[in-house]
Amino acid sequence: MDVSEAIRTKRAIRQFQQTPLKNDDILVILNAGRRAQSSKNSQPWQFIAITDKPILLALSKCGQWANHLAGAALGVAIVTPNPTEKFQTMFDAGQAAAYMQLAAWELGIGSCPASIYEDEKARHILRFPEEWFLRIALSFGYPLNENELISPPRKLGRKKIDEIVHWNSW
Ligand SMILES: Cc1cc2nc3c(=O)[nH]c(=O)nc-3n(C[C@H](O)[C@H](O)[C@H](O)COP(=O)(O)O)c2cc1C
Repeated sequence: MDVSEAIRTKRAIRQFQQTPLKNDDILVILNAGRRAQSSKNSQPWQFIAITDKPILLALSKCGQWANHLAGAALGVAIVTPNPTEKFQTMFDAGQAAAYMQLAAWELGIGSCPASIYEDEKARHILRFPEEWFLRIALSFGYPLNENELISPPRKLGRKKIDEIVHWNSW
C-alpha cells in the first residue's frame, strides 16, 4: 500500500478483534510516531503503550467518547508537555498520531483517537509526572469487521476540494 492509498482508504475503527498485535507490529507503529516531524524537532512526546486490559478499561472512562479504548488490543497515550503553553504541541502530537495510524493501516490494523477529557483521572491511571499532560490516546487493533479495510470511503466522507481550498487568497 502506498502513502496516498493509505490516506485515501484509512477510516476510524472503533471495534476490534481480540487478537493481540505482534510485538514487531507494535514497534512499527511506535517507531512511526517517533519519526514524526515536530516544531524545532522538539519531539514533545512520550508514548505510553498499553496492552493491559484493566488499564485500557480504566482509560476508556476518561472521555465521553473514549469507550473504544476498552476493546483495543493496544492503546497509545500521547503524553505531552502542557499544550496550553505552546500552540505547536498538539499539532506535533497530531503528527505523531497520524503517522502511527497510517503505519498501522498499512499492516491491516485499525485505529481511532480518543479525546481524554478527564486528564487528571488519566494521570492517576497511567502514573505520568505532573509536568506531562494527556489529551489524546489512540486505540489500535484488527478491525472486527474486516471489510472496513477494503470498503470504499464512507458516504459522509470528506468535504469536496472546492469547499475547502482557496487559491492565492480567501
Ligand atoms: C483530535 C481528534 C479527536 C478525536 N476524538 C475522538 C473521540 O474521543 N472518540 C471517537 O470515537 N473518535 C474520535 N476521533 C475520531 C473522529 O471522530 C474521526 O477521525 C472522524 O469522524 C473521521 O472518521 P473517518 O476517518 O472514519 O471518516 C477523534 C479524531 C481526532 C482527529
